[in-house]
Amino acid sequence: MKVLAILYSGGAAAKEEPRLLGTLENELAIREYLESQGHEYLVSDDKEGPDSFFQKHIADAEVLITTPFHPGYLTADLFEKAKKLKICITAGVGSDHIDLNAAVAHQVQVLEVSGSNVVSVAEHVVMNILLLVRNFVPAHEMIERGDWQVSQVARNAFDVEGKVIGTIGAGRIGYRVLQRLLPFNPKELLYYDYATLPAEAEKAVNARRVEDLKDFVSQCDIITVNAPLHEGSRGLINTELLSHFKKGAWLVNTARGAICDKDAVAAALKSGQLRGYAGDVWDVQPAPRDHVWRTMKNPLGGGNGMVPHYSGTTLDAQARYAKGTKDILDNYLTGKEQEPGNVIIGLGKWGTKAYGQR
Ligand code: NAI
Repeated sequence: MKVLAILYSGGAAAKEEPRLLGTLENELAIREYLESQGHEYLVSDDKEGPDSFFQKHIADAEVLITTPFHPGYLTADLFEKAKKLKICITAGVGSDHIDLNAAVAHQVQVLEVSGSNVVSVAEHVVMNILLLVRNFVPAHEMIERGDWQVSQVARNAFDVEGKVIGTIGAGRIGYRVLQRLLPFNPKELLYYDYATLPAEAEKAVNARRVEDLKDFVSQCDIITVNAPLHEGSRGLINTELLSHFKKGAWLVNTARGAICDKDAVAAALKSGQLRGYAGDVWDVQPAPRDHVWRTMKNPLGGGNGMVPHYSGTTLDAQARYAKGTKDILDNYLTGKEQEPGNVIIGLGKWGTKAYGQR
């Protein structure tokens, strides 16, 4: 059996730090496991274009493993080519790099290591909210420059306490964000999700569901996006929706870059309609050097908290998703039932309700 993994190159860091398991160099630590059973394990970071390692070897791979941090994009066209493919494993959470409708049609299963990095992301979201609201990045840059002008950064710094904070998507990550924000004494916690939280869960975080998206965004000072990318969430945050945000709201997106319209966000930040935007996910990854989100700023020169896609790939998370990947492989190879929570696409059918209302 041929197992193909598309992972990102970790360079010198991955050679020095073996716990960087999600890299090309450390191969999710499953080579010995696979080869001892006679399987072929091919790993590469070369994923773009018809001559790439990915597109060449997908033709006869039975298993595809890829991380959302450096995804091999498995389009409907590539499914036509992938004649032997039986299972795609996402080493992490978020399988939008795979055309999921095509996976259903081709009877290819898609599994992810659900829950493996949800705390890692929730912590990053809370950090992003704090660094935007408190205007941290410009304050730190001032210090590095050798300057000291308190008023220049304090003029755009606020408290999280007393703000209305809302999450788009209240699943594993969104709910953990609400739990972590509660001790900050927000004015209110809101959520927008077609799935209602169980009453006890709602009560535990004192959250209120708002059913209409425009109504929801117009009430929030701070919005965090925690929904998967699918037909119903692609481009959800666009110029029109941004016009319904409170003027000067903060937006954090660690879900998927393409949920936000890139240029609409940059324009809203430039005009001050958004006071800040932070996250780690981009519409294309790796993001091109000239991607507008790298350098966009609000009118006072701050409000940008962008980093590369790493919130869900802390060393703690990598240990969990590497183990989870091996468990999914092991279930597949031994014919054991998969954990239901990990199944995005089962054999010819959807295994989750989180990728849009169908
Ligand atoms: P989950 O499946 O537990 O929860 C997702 C929630 O979003 C569900 O309650 C679902 O009903 C809701 N939802 C779906 N479409 C929606 C829409 N259009 N509007 C509002 N709500 C919607 O997933 P989990 O574990 O919370 O992860 C969410 C997403 O976060 C992943 O799909 C992935 O894209 C992203 N993620 C990012 C990571 C990073 O490193 N930046 C790491 C892990 C996940």
